[in-house]
Amino acid sequence: MVKVSEFLKQHGKPSREVYLDHENSGWVPPEVVEAMLPYFNQRGYGHPSITNLPGWEAYEVVESTLEKVNKTINARGGELVITHNGTEANNLAIIGTALGSGRERRKIITSAIEHVSILFPARSLEEYGYRVVTIPVDKEGFVDPDMLSMLIDYETLMVSIQMVNHEIGTIQNIKTLVETVKDKDDRIIFHTDAVDAYGRIKIDVEELGVDLMTLSSHKIHGPRGVGVLYVREGVRLKPIMHGALSTQKMWPGVENIPAIAGFNKAIDLTFTNFDDNVKKMKMLRDMLMDGILNNVPEVLLNGPRGDKRAPDNVNISFLHVEGESITVELSLRGVYVSSGSACTSRVLEPSHVILAIGRRYEEAHGSILFKVSRYHNKEDIEYVLSQVPPAIERLRIISPLARESREAVKKVVEV
Ligand SMILES: Cc1ncc(COP(=O)(O)O)c(C=O)c1O
Repeated sequence: MVKVSEFLKQHGKPSREVYLDHENSGWVPPEVVEAMLPYFNQRGYGHPSITNLPGWEAYEVVESTLEKVNKTINARGGELVITHNGTEANNLAIIGTALGSGRERRKIITSAIEHVSILFPARSLEEYGYRVVTIPVDKEGFVDPDMLSMLIDYETLMVSIQMVNHEIGTIQNIKTLVETVKDKDDRIIFHTDAVDAYGRIKIDVEELGVDLMTLSSHKIHGPRGVGVLYVREGVRLKPIMHGALSTQKMWPGVENIPAIAGFNKAIDLTFTNFDDNVKKMKMLRDMLMDGILNNVPEVLLNGPRGDKRAPDNVNISFLHVEGESITVELSLRGVYVSSGSACTSRVLEPSHVILAIGRRYEEAHGSILFKVSRYHNKEDIEYVLSQVPPAIERLRIISPLARESREAVKKVVEV
């Protein structure tokens, strides 16, 4: 196997680069990096649980960040738990609710297009007698409230449905789904994974009525290494990790203070001029989406259009080409995208999200996710649009999938 260092030498550094893989992890702006640096060795480098100056300075970062998160999601009561990423917060939401429930209720309802950090912990509970019911979605990724209502019964412990889908950008109507659940039984816990909603759509936990909600720093141009779980007052949750000192009673281990300081700055940057930022993302999203749909033959848009779609999300299936070969070809041209989700792409499995909206295996394999950001401009998108059509054309010439399809068409024509 070729070592990555060798591969990188061969790849070289493209003269122009546009990073569009903000789904999987992202570019951190200089202001965020600057906000982090003092916390390594100038201030707040202590443990936030300890009563000395560097410890108090560290705790101030935690306190101020939690205040900002509360403000941006309009959380007037309840608690925020800081974890070391969104995956941990989702695990705490699912497993912590099960442990906190006293095993009276054993049914967990989730959707077919959730992130794996929901699906896997939920499935892990099956071994302990819990039943996981996965609700299907329609061809744009929406959950039907009537179907959800039908699935709820006296055994239902919790429902976990994400606010915005990470791959196809579907914005669920969470308020309606929460009402559907609570109308049937207000003791059922409603969790929403809002990792891909935060910073893209307005979130008001009071208005939505959710009990638990997950956020992650690196999805808003903050650094990796900070997740947050919002826990409404009265929700019974038990810790799932135990051990080291932390100010977070639900999550052990010393907090990553430099990363939390960066997340704090990223919140400021994301929520200042929020409406203008969202408007800009939508304009860039539509420019990219229409540019590809109008200029590349045999493509399919995955997910809804317009206001039902996250402002940063473009997901397109390029028929007769492998997604992995597209990411490599575009990378050589300085355009960085992903195929399926990071969680599945390394094992070359088609995305469960794209399959769940009814696409065939070949269509799911050729799906590419582009995520625009407020830091992009029109010239970036023009550059991407100048690279995607020739990249796809080149791959289709050499692709065995395209050859098979051409041969099949030829046979039909001959008959
Ligand atoms: C919808 C969704 N939930 C959860 C996560 C996990 O967050 P993290 O990467 O911080 O662990 C991701 C990450 O890609 C995500 O897209």
